[in-house]
Parts: sequence; C-alpha cells; structure tokens
Amino acid sequence: MSDYLLEESPLSPGKIYRLFSGSICPRPIAWVSTLDAAGNANLAPFSFFNVVSVNPPVLGFSPLLDGDANPKDTVRNLKEVEECVVHLCGEGLVQEMNATSAGLARGEDEFIHAGLEKVTMPGVSVPRVAGAPVAFGCRLREIIRFGDQPLAGNLVLAEVVSIHIEDTLWDGRHVDADGLRPIGRLAGNDYIRCTDLFEVERPASGSSLSRQARGAS
Ligand SMILES: Cc1cc2nc3c(=O)[nH]c(=O)nc-3n(C[C@H](O)[C@H](O)[C@H](O)COP(=O)(O)O)c2cc1C
Repeated sequence: MSDYLLEESPLSPGKIYRLFSGSICPRPIAWVSTLDAAGNANLAPFSFFNVVSVNPPVLGFSPLLDGDANPKDTVRNLKEVEECVVHLCGEGLVQEMNATSAGLARGEDEFIHAGLEKVTMPGVSVPRVAGAPVAFGCRLREIIRFGDQPLAGNLVLAEVVSIHIEDTLWDGRHVDADGLRPIGRLAGNDYIRCTDLFEVERPASGSSLSRQARGAS
C-alpha cells in the first residue's frame, strides 16, 4: 500500500496522467467541433469531460497543453469563435472519432481527414457531424487555465443552446442506451462498452447503509 503526499514526494506529470487515466475511468468522450476565425473546421475527442450544470445546461471538457506547452487547436479556435458542438459518438462512430485525434496541422479539417460529412447545428455557426446520434450546440462561457506548463488543463465551460438527438433514441424521457451504444475511455488505447448493467436503488432520504443492512425502514 502506498500513500503519496505530493508536496513532499511529487510524481511526474506523466505518472499522474497515467494514474488519472487508469483510475478515473471509464470516462465519457466529448467529440468537439470548432471553427477558426477563417472558417476552417476542427474536430477532436476529449475524455476529460462531464456535465457541470443542468440549469443553465453547461458541459465541461479539458484540452491539456501538449508536451511542448502549446495549446490544442480546439482551445485556440474557441478563443477566435466562441462556439462549439459537443457530440457523443457511441460505438458506431468510434473509429472516426479516434481518427480525429490525429495531430493535424492547424487549419486542417478533421472532418475531411476522417471522411465525415458536416451538417448545420441550430443556434451556432459550427457544423456538427452528420450521423452523430447526440450533439449539443454550445456557446463558450469561460476557459479556466491551470498554467503555462506542459499538460496544464484548459477547462472549457460551454453552455448548451441547442440539442440534436435521433428520434429513435429518445422518447422525451429516457435515452435508449441499447440504441446509443455508449462507450467509455479507459487508459491508453482501451475503451469499454456499457453492456453489463446492474441496478442499485437510491436510498430513501434519512436511511443509512447500516440501517438498510439490518432491514430497518
Ligand atoms: C478518446 C480520446 C480522448 C482524449 N481526451 C483528451 C483530453 O481529455 N484532453 C486532451 O488534451 N487530449 C485528449 N485526447 C487527445 C486529443 O484528442 C488530441 O491531442 C487532438 O489532436 C487534439 O486536437 P486539436 O489540436 O485539433 O484540438 C484524447 C484522444 C482520444 C483518442
């Protein structure tokens, strides 16, 4: 068993990255399209991602500075055009999603690189991926920077202004997980399907685990 007090025995950023990616998982993947000021489209996946507010609806994802401390195109674009589309790709588009993580030159269009068609998204000028089962058109609220050093995060907070979801996937209440086929990212090249579900009932308010175990109401 090991305990690390990082102030006294720091771990390298590379070690912390691997520890985070292997233990904070599975992670959902934000597949994010943006535009630069010249109108060139960009598309890239980010698994440091989650919901951060429902009312207002806000999503958060974090492109890190790269190993040379340069910002990724997604962040540079968001500073030029303050909009994005956050897609959930499902297993059906996993190869295309992965293809868009290639380090292309700035201004090169990952939609074209991955053979993906663009369609318009209501409320934003940024295109969405045709065929993506779920997508959120977003306006930038804020980017929180965690420094100028390699692997520093840039937490993008993006407010959802429009929603695309396939009719077959949503009855207005429940999202059909079998149809969506959500995937999660683990460490390295590993992904996981959501095909081994189990249910855990939420506790009634005021009940504790020990009282439940004793059968107390
Ligand atoms: C599934 C997946 C998840 C990723 N998650 C992140 C992430 O959360 N943060 C990050 O900085 N890079 C992440 N990457 C790497 C970026 O996608 C990659 O650096 C990409 O080239 C960035 O594109 P951009 O420069 O066009 O913004 C991920 C890659 C994959 C395949």
